[in-house]
Amino acid sequence: MNIQALSVHDYRNLAEAELSLGPGFTVLHGHNGAGKTNVLEALYLVSTLRSFRTSDLGVVVRSGTEASRVVVRGFDAGLGVSSTLEVRLERRGSTTRRVATADGKTVRSGAQFYGRVRAVLFTPEDLGVLRGGPTGRRQFMDRVLFGRERGHIADVQTYEKLLRSRNRILREEGLPAAERERLLGTYETGLAQTGARLWTRRLELLHELQARFSGAFASIHGEAGEQADRGGAGPVASLRYECKLGPVSAAEREPTLLQALLERRALDERRGGTSVGPHRDDLVVLLDDQPAGDFASQGQSRALVLAFKLAEVQTARERSADGTPPLLLLDDVSSELDPRRTALLFRTLGEHAGQCILTTTSPRYIDLPAQVETRRYRVDQGTITPDPAIA
Ligand SMILES: Nc1ncnc2c1ncn2[C@@H]1O[C@H](COP(=O)(O)OP(=O)(O)O)[C@@H](O)[C@H]1O
Ligand SMILES: [Mg+2]
Repeated sequence: MNIQALSVHDYRNLAEAELSLGPGFTVLHGHNGAGKTNVLEALYLVSTLRSFRTSDLGVVVRSGTEASRVVVRGFDAGLGVSSTLEVRLERRGSTTRRVATADGKTVRSGAQFYGRVRAVLFTPEDLGVLRGGPTGRRQFMDRVLFGRERGHIADVQTYEKLLRSRNRILREEGLPAAERERLLGTYETGLAQTGARLWTRRLELLHELQARFSGAFASIHGEAGEQADRGGAGPVASLRYECKLGPVSAAEREPTLLQALLERRALDERRGGTSVGPHRDDLVVLLDDQPAGDFASQGQSRALVLAFKLAEVQTARERSADGTPPLLLLDDVSSELDPRRTALLFRTLGEHAGQCILTTTSPRYIDLPAQVETRRYRVDQGTITPDPAIA
């Protein structure tokens, strides 16, 4: 859906805010703490019914008030109709009620609401994913899949539950042998079934993103200085799914995983946990075939993460029935990039992104191509005003 207007009421420090969005770029600028990220968070809420900063939605309701409301109005090119979506958060004691409506009608299940506004988000926290442990990278892949595959959330939840159950039985003492055997058998069969689906979806995701990712990295990062002058090519970025069980054909994934779980029972019992399966896999980002987490510079890390997001935008556009790219939300995107990289980044965004909302502390970090329509807003202590003065 193409969003034309956003209105936010009592969301964090935004008491009342109205924004009209164009089809191209919308730049929000303002000091630290002004409320820029809060605007992106509100848009993300309408996309996913979640926050990217907290799992407790009560904390986003503006202090001193009891309810937040976020409303977007847009045009759904697939259906050929205008549509209004609203998410309301009502604080009641220690719980927060979430109410979603589409064109005035309450939407009861999240699954029916997801996908109406598709969004791809970049936040500076994503940069930690490359350097940190594998948990963050697995979540990174799964979050993309939540937006693409209806069954993925349920499969992840089922898998985690089965994992806890297997681990509990492995640790439990004094269980009769037959009962233990029966329970482990049931859990392992389930783990192999759901685990193989998670494994396959992640592999397919990386396979689909691969070429777009390498291309986007090359155009964002380019090659600086002398080497470029000599026509040298920059490093090549690629993605690899790392799994203990090695490359296994789609049909063999479930039996291979089941076999591995059986074989590792004694080992897992000693360790007190399940040592094989998609919960132990990793996404490895490579620069010239070397794991980038270990040696990428800050600028390269930023370019790698942004290239991943752009690959996501492009593949989502190709997958969508009406060719509409998802909304791209970029938080503090260009601080730390040198002027040349900033220009390259925005040129690439201009080519591949559709609607894009970005925040910055200073408009001088933003170097947008002249041919893309741009709207600018100033954010100051929770108040948003159009700012046409800065060109
Ligand atoms: N529930 C809330 N009620 C009122 N203000 C809040 C709430 N949650 C966060 N804030 C305020 O929002 C501001 C941070 O906004 P943010 O969008 O992160 O700033 P930035 O412009 O730097 O991205 C802080 O001043 C914080 O105190
Ligand atoms: Mg911010």
